[in-house]
Amino acid sequence: MQKILTWVDERFPLTATYKAHLAEYFAPKNFNFWYYFGSLALLVLVIQIVSGIFLTMNYKPDANLAFASVEYIMRDVPYGWLIRYVHSTGASAFFVVVYLHMFRGLLYGSYRKPRELIWVFGVLIYLVLMGEAFFGYLLPWGQMSFWGAQVIVNLFAAVPIIGEDLSIWIRGDYVISDATLNRFFAFHVIALPLVLIGLIAAHLVALHEVGSNNPDGIDIKKHKDPVTHRPLDGIPFHPYYTVKDILGVVVFLIVFSAIVFFAPEMGGYFLEYNNFIPADPLKTPEHIAPVWYFTPYYAILRAIPPVLGSQFPGVAAMGVAVLIFLALPWLDRSPVRSIRYRGPKFKIALTLFVISFIWLGVLGVLPSTPARTVIAQVLTVVYFAFFFLMPWYTKNDTTKPVPERVTDK
Ligand code: HEM
Repeated sequence: MQKILTWVDERFPLTATYKAHLAEYFAPKNFNFWYYFGSLALLVLVIQIVSGIFLTMNYKPDANLAFASVEYIMRDVPYGWLIRYVHSTGASAFFVVVYLHMFRGLLYGSYRKPRELIWVFGVLIYLVLMGEAFFGYLLPWGQMSFWGAQVIVNLFAAVPIIGEDLSIWIRGDYVISDATLNRFFAFHVIALPLVLIGLIAAHLVALHEVGSNNPDGIDIKKHKDPVTHRPLDGIPFHPYYTVKDILGVVVFLIVFSAIVFFAPEMGGYFLEYNNFIPADPLKTPEHIAPVWYFTPYYAILRAIPPVLGSQFPGVAAMGVAVLIFLALPWLDRSPVRSIRYRGPKFKIALTLFVISFIWLGVLGVLPSTPARTVIAQVLTVVYFAFFFLMPWYTKNDTTKPVPERVTDK
């Protein structure tokens, strides 16, 4: 074995890579619960790619055949039902995991210098993931697939001057049609997954360049062993965090399997009931709502009233609501990173932000009423205030003294 390894190492940096990124990659020793979600996001990525490959073997991207081919997968393909439920549950799991992963970044200031690029790649991953979910949702060619795509693509028509042409260009037709299905299929199975994998690679390269942040938000490289030059508060990623991450994987798979086997539709939140009806361009469903992970933004879209008959302000607000995450590293002016050493202003702001995000998400599922619209408007203001007021409240907040070394309770 040693001979084979030496032969490979002389031609490819196998041992060097293993050491640099696993056995001698020192991660802070105080990682907690919130640090499970990066590796879980990688796991879900693999689950989606593998289940997606098997779905593609039996799915037909043709407006006349798509719906029936999904039913064929569910009923006739051996274990087809399992493959499909794993993939549909995986889509929601991806967003659960990524939202918790992003929240960790907010808690511990992981987006702050020198990790701005890790964060920027992360937000780009989030954007591509939204595109991936949107394109994938058209493929079963159910009522919700069709009308959801219709609503979202029509939003582009609200862009001034080029809007109308833009929406036709996206659809490849005047309405959602076979041409749209074909291109969405191409985007979903190859174009966006390639971009996603590239961005994730960049995300991890940037992470390993600067090293992980931690719940104390302090730099572990400041205190090194004078002889070995290892960070005193660091432990080798392998075996310590590989073992920790395996625990996360086991717990995740238990919950994931429970959903796949016992509640794959999740009360209509993971698979919407209307999507078990074939797409009918002549019959608009009474209530069109996107899948749960898009609903906070959908609620923001509906909260902003049209100006001079144009929906553009709502569309723009929705776009800014997502893109504003990119600015976070430069909006935060606090002298400390972690919430543990921040003052009440940041804690209140973050709590209000989380409440607004979840509440907007709930409102986005429900049909709108005048009262709900007013609530959504207030919550939209709270959502944006978190970002726009951040330079002020982070600079003027009280802070607690930050310890020199990590606190390992
Ligand atoms: C497919 C999606 C993603 C994958 C596979 C992924 C993977 C990872 C992994 C494996 C880590 C190191 C382990 C950990 O800290 O949990 C990490 C760290 C990080 N990720 Fe992601 N990530 C994804 C999406 C995102 C998104 C959407 C954001 C933010 C918008 C983000 C921001 C960060 C940050 C700031 C860190 C460093 C955290 C720290 O050191 O405290 N990631 N990511």
